[in-house]
Amino acid sequence: MKKDEFRKAVFELMLKNRRTCDQYQYTVPSPDVYPYQWLWDSCFHAIILSHFSLDDAKKELLSLVSHQFENGMIPHMIYWDKAKPTDFPVIEWGKEDTSTITQPPIIAYATWRIYQTDKDEEFLEKIYPSLSLFYNYLINERDPRNNHLIGIINPDESGEDNSPRFDIPLGLDLQHSQDVNFGKRLELVGKHRVCNFEIGTCMRNFFWVKDVPFNAILVENLRVLSDIAKVLGNIEDAKYFSEQSKLITLAMRKFMFEDGIFWSTYDLDYKKIKVLTWAVFSPLFAKICTKDEAKVLVDKYLLNPKKFKTKFPVPTVSLDEPAFDANGFWRGPVWMAINWFIYKGFMNYGLYNQAEKIRSDSLALIHQEGFREQFNPLNGEGLGARDFTWGGLTLDMLE
Ligand code: GLC
Repeated sequence: MKKDEFRKAVFELMLKNRRTCDQYQYTVPSPDVYPYQWLWDSCFHAIILSHFSLDDAKKELLSLVSHQFENGMIPHMIYWDKAKPTDFPVIEWGKEDTSTITQPPIIAYATWRIYQTDKDEEFLEKIYPSLSLFYNYLINERDPRNNHLIGIINPDESGEDNSPRFDIPLGLDLQHSQDVNFGKRLELVGKHRVCNFEIGTCMRNFFWVKDVPFNAILVENLRVLSDIAKVLGNIEDAKYFSEQSKLITLAMRKFMFEDGIFWSTYDLDYKKIKVLTWAVFSPLFAKICTKDEAKVLVDKYLLNPKKFKTKFPVPTVSLDEPAFDANGFWRGPVWMAINWFIYKGFMNYGLYNQAEKIRSDSLALIHQEGFREQFNPLNGEGLGARDFTWGGLTLDMLE
């Protein structure tokens, strides 16, 4: 497919998946399987839409913050139209029209991308109070001991629902069915309700993970939020968010780093979860590694045929992990947003050849299989939902 045709196909997909409700407009990740609005998906959508229509990109983010909680949390799902029958099992997360958990905080980054294109300060002003409230919520409520690492209370908050990074904290065996995994996550939803949605003293006793990608994404987003505050002339906030970003970076090194790798941790005593997933590359997105560390990640992990080098890269789980499953949900397959994060990380370090390879491999997969949710990293087969939006992020990988 030629470049223009591909661009057109992405735009058509975004229009096909567009929904409106009252004065709001948003995009569903996939019409059949994911018919609601999701937090990090909509941030990806805004980034994709910023290549077509800034107005639509802004609407996507404004609909997200329209359901922000009073305490600042932005829920990971908004059920704009729960009444419609769909294939998606409606999970009762504890509220009528939204979930009660969040997802990786990439909304400041998406906002900044829009602003960089049109310098619309009015939009920044409009969305800034919600952003500031959300990131303050994470900094305060999700770090009750003030150790500068942000905790998640359910694997779904990572966006990688079934990732084997969460098997140990969930108390699961290496091999288990998707239903068993889902059951454990639903149990956590129940506990959250019993905790009356209180995290610091209650919920964190049941599942408390300091996840590497979540914290790395936060580091980069706090940096960007600081830039946004600066544009708006709010020097105090700018300083504060920049400091918080630095503190989390230092804490990641202190609690997560060992043998060249940042590991997610669990429980109050920061036990490392030594399961090798794409998460090892995520600190590159936030420029947390040194140049030498980045090089080791490429040579020892990305280009290692026993680990992340497959015919159709990048697998989300290392091939030599016992939990690796080429078709398993978040247990091996390629996901386009993950390729995008890794691509951006490599660009940060001037690893242009590696970045370019991820871009062309990603495009080849989509050309071969269409806009699928995931792809088998060994044979390239498309898996899961169809008409899934994340493939549009390849447009954001520049030639
Ligand atoms: C799945 C993914 C999650 C995504 C959602 C909607 O649950 O694991 O990351 O946000 O689908 O696409």
